[in-house]
Amino acid sequence: MIVLDRQRGLFTLHTRSTTYQMKVDDRGVLLHTYYGGRVDGADLSYLIREADRGFSPNPGEAGHCRTYSLDTLPQEYSTCGVGDFRLPSLELVHADGSRVADLRCVGCELREGKYALEGLPAFHGAGGETLAVFLRDETARVEVELLYGVFEEYDLITRAARIVNRGESAVRLCRAASLCLDLPRGDLDLITFDGRHVMERCPARAALRPGVQSVGSVRGTSSHQHNPFVVLCESDAGEDHGLCWGAMLLYSGNFEAAAERSQFERSRLVMGIHPYHFCYTLAPGEGFTTPEAAMVCSASGFARMSQLFHRAIRERLLRDNRPGRKPVLVNSWEATYFDFDEEKLLALARASAPLGVELFVLDDGWFGTRNNDRGGLGDWWVNREKLPGGLGSLARAVNALGMEFGLWIEPEMVSEDSRLYREHPDWVLCAPGRAYTRGRSQLVLDFTRREVRDDIYGALGQVLSGANITYLKWDMNRSLSEVWSAALPPERQGEVFHRYVLGVYDMLERFRRDYPHILIEGCSGGGGRFDGGMLYYTPQIWCSDNTDAVDRLRIQYGTSFCYPACTMGAHVSAVPNETNRRVTPLETRGVVAMSGVLGYEMDLTRITGEEGRAIAGQIRRYKACWDLVAEGDYYRLSSPFDGGPYTAWAHVARDRRRALVSVVTGATFAAPPFMALRLKGLDPALRYRVNGEAAYSGAALMAAGYPLPMPQGDYQSLQLLLEAE
Ligand code: GLA
Repeated sequence: MIVLDRQRGLFTLHTRSTTYQMKVDDRGVLLHTYYGGRVDGADLSYLIREADRGFSPNPGEAGHCRTYSLDTLPQEYSTCGVGDFRLPSLELVHADGSRVADLRCVGCELREGKYALEGLPAFHGAGGETLAVFLRDETARVEVELLYGVFEEYDLITRAARIVNRGESAVRLCRAASLCLDLPRGDLDLITFDGRHVMERCPARAALRPGVQSVGSVRGTSSHQHNPFVVLCESDAGEDHGLCWGAMLLYSGNFEAAAERSQFERSRLVMGIHPYHFCYTLAPGEGFTTPEAAMVCSASGFARMSQLFHRAIRERLLRDNRPGRKPVLVNSWEATYFDFDEEKLLALARASAPLGVELFVLDDGWFGTRNNDRGGLGDWWVNREKLPGGLGSLARAVNALGMEFGLWIEPEMVSEDSRLYREHPDWVLCAPGRAYTRGRSQLVLDFTRREVRDDIYGALGQVLSGANITYLKWDMNRSLSEVWSAALPPERQGEVFHRYVLGVYDMLERFRRDYPHILIEGCSGGGGRFDGGMLYYTPQIWCSDNTDAVDRLRIQYGTSFCYPACTMGAHVSAVPNETNRRVTPLETRGVVAMSGVLGYEMDLTRITGEEGRAIAGQIRRYKACWDLVAEGDYYRLSSPFDGGPYTAWAHVARDRRRALVSVVTGATFAAPPFMALRLKGLDPALRYRVNGEAAYSGAALMAAGYPLPMPQGDYQSLQLLLEAE
């Protein structure tokens, strides 16, 4: 619910349990007054205080009033050059070289339904409301429209800003954040989700220190290294208690999330496109729209915050053209790498179908001269030496086994050893007169250019029309360098990073529109582009190239703080694991992968009969419980990072009548203690049968716990299906 009190200049956004408020002060500056647990009918600006503070200057019209300074006031969208020295949200360079943005509120508008952003991902759907607040820099005649979307039932508030140049000369935009959040206390912790290739999204938590702490990406993708999702929280906040604010950016390119603890013990969080190499020229009349940011505030800890994000993402962000359970897949990559022919693939398919696998995915190596990762990208036609019958006949054979057929693609890239590169060497991102920096021996196509996108789209269209393909794995395997486009003038080169992302979104949208029957899974060397932007186009993303079950516990745990299990591609692979050589039991690999979109990525032609029966059993179990994984509430019961003897988590049905609890123990040790696992989210008044056997009350299972068996051997697992009697 949005409450507008125009007379007092008070704008209040209420969700079911939270309130967000801003107020226009006497000078027209838009101040942030509150974001926290729900408060009805109050003007919370009484909390804002003014004082004469040294070196906090006073704007011109304040005259000699020394107590009014933007340096000390909580800003709704911070600016630059007018006396607020904290993190700016907006930085403008005017035609005369000055860098001042003095924004005053000139109006607001309540709109029915949630706003959409052209060419950009955004939360959507019925029931939303929009508040637009208009700010204006009168001297430059630059307008900023702050957009707010309110999704009450998810306690979710979305934000974006549109900046329009209404003046007569060009303005350069050097920073345009999506979110600015000024909180009235400095004693908060910041949690970021960091890592590297094959070890993504590990949480890192630290108290805010005075000054700025930031994470971000300048790689052209949201990156393996830092995720565009962060949490600010009270220093004692935990899974079930404490105030926390989660903020995600729906963007798949360079981003920055910066938190500042300022001199007077306030915190400011600013999130948006990274200002590195960002400079957008706004000619008179032109506008720029920031990506969307979304916030959830929870007064009862991280579990609730995550559950709210999960529900909102599932129901209001994913545009799932194939709702329901995702097919259990087998992926050829770790089974064959580049070394395959039709017979080898069909042998894998024949071994997979009887186990209950529903989708056969042909990964890298099927096109052009792609026999290793040094050539072939860009030549999107089938390699007839490997597949003489083409994809059509392979897909038919796979379909005849009762499985769907899917394909790996990497449309944004080109190899120098390819026909595409030989014909269009000027289609890559490169800096004039300089050597290329190669990544995985490949170059990046200039997706800012329509003709480049059209060519790739056309070639892939031919592939899709020649075979019954119902799934695509859209990969992206390097970071961007020498970011320069031959299609833009020098003064617009600071737009290339962003235009590249817009180009990727445009391509994905065309695929979605023209091939609505195709499920697209996102991928960037695993989880290098696992963000809310991609999820708008690809409802599942390959979580990590690391398929080791024990490392995956950490990766999936970190990922779960924002993203729901139904978005995480998770596969069972062979042991020793190809990433870290660890050996884990097949059952444990299954338990971990079942907590995402289950798949198998191993040579199923070489498994024993016993392993085959175990895999068939896993797939049956997954199919029986997928609704819990896909739609249930997620509880982290312990952390794989705290060094405890086990990691446990649960998916609990919304009506609390069923739950799937998973436990994985660590490396074994002698004489382990007796352990009981306390569950969460159950109905205390119900009695639950555990794996069809003994029944316990929800109250007992939550307060006293369930006795865990003594682990025998490394990395054992246990899965409990709880069903109310
Ligand atoms: C990336 C992906 C892998 C696989 C390879 C193929 O690394 O993340 O899953 O598809 O590319 O080259």
